[in-house]
Amino acid sequence: VEVLKVLETVKESEICTTVLVRTASGHWSSLSPGQFVMVWIPGIDEVPMSVSSLEGDPPIIGITVQGIGEATNALCRLRTGDRIGIRGPYGRGFDLALPKGSTVVGVSGGVGSASTVLAMERARELGYRTVNLVGARSSSLLVFAERFIRNSDLTIVATDDGSRGHSGYVTDLLPEVLSSEKRPVIISCGPEVMMRKVMEIADEASVRCQLSLERYMKCGVGLCDSCSMSGRRVCQDGPVFDISEVRELSEFASSHRDRSGRSVPIGECVR
Ligand SMILES: Cc1cc2nc3c(=O)[nH]c(=O)nc-3n(C[C@H](O)[C@H](O)[C@H](O)COP(=O)(O)OP(=O)(O)OC[C@H]3O[C@@H](n4cnc5c(N)ncnc54)[C@H](O)[C@@H]3O)c2cc1C
Ligand code: FES
Repeated sequence: VEVLKVLETVKESEICTTVLVRTASGHWSSLSPGQFVMVWIPGIDEVPMSVSSLEGDPPIIGITVQGIGEATNALCRLRTGDRIGIRGPYGRGFDLALPKGSTVVGVSGGVGSASTVLAMERARELGYRTVNLVGARSSSLLVFAERFIRNSDLTIVATDDGSRGHSGYVTDLLPEVLSSEKRPVIISCGPEVMMRKVMEIADEASVRCQLSLERYMKCGVGLCDSCSMSGRRVCQDGPVFDISEVRELSEFASSHRDRSGRSVPIGECVR
């Protein structure tokens, strides 16, 4: 674990905050978008987080946190100079070695943008056309909408309550985007009900799709089995899975394991 000082915190939405830390070792530069880190909050817990920004060498890492419980609320309360521990990077990120001429279509819901934003920016740097569909329940909960607009070829915003952009779900707009873009490939992260819809639309259009999944994690490195999902370990085999793999995961969008390993049904929204 690298214990690092918080450089800065940035409020991203009503309920999300980005915490920036300067790493001390060069190995972080090899992190691929979609991989995650385990973040230790002294005296509280250690939780998995996506990396939403990576700049410099050794890089300044950003994690973007939605406060939903003890650890995430503690992360949202951090101030410049506080210390947290980080280990990683872990898991399998998004596969961005795509056929030439592909259009990468990002579909992000709520804090799911924290997992897709870096991948979408990397995809554009690699020369692909990038189109982002970004959604949230309302405009005050959108995460990285401005950053997506700035750094991609086309960004479409949707809110459930119509307070910004399309009134409805991001997935309402996906079929049209897929039919109007050349060689689309989808990458997505958000509530599982949203990703299930993304998967159905991708299947119907025969478009390749990668989903970033989330399960309760303790070790982050394949040892404890707490992140098990229909026989796969999300921390090591994922968190990014191709839809051909997700089809085999019967627990997807149906159940997850709690802290004690008990299987519980997934409600309307995972977080
Ligand atoms: C690979 C990966 C990347 C992640 N990236 C981010 C990120 O970038 N930003 C972010 O804000 N969060 C991210 N998360 C989720 C984050 O790790 C959890 O929200 C956090 O661990 C909750 O800890 P807590 O102590 O705050 O809440 P707890 O008190 O542990 O939980 C609060 C409530 O949320 C439920 N819950 C917690 N974790 C999960 C889960 N994984 N699946 C379903 N229900 C859950 C609990 O059952 C409980 O009801 C990621 C998770 C994974 C696996
Ligand atoms: S978190 Fe321990 S095996 Fe995945």
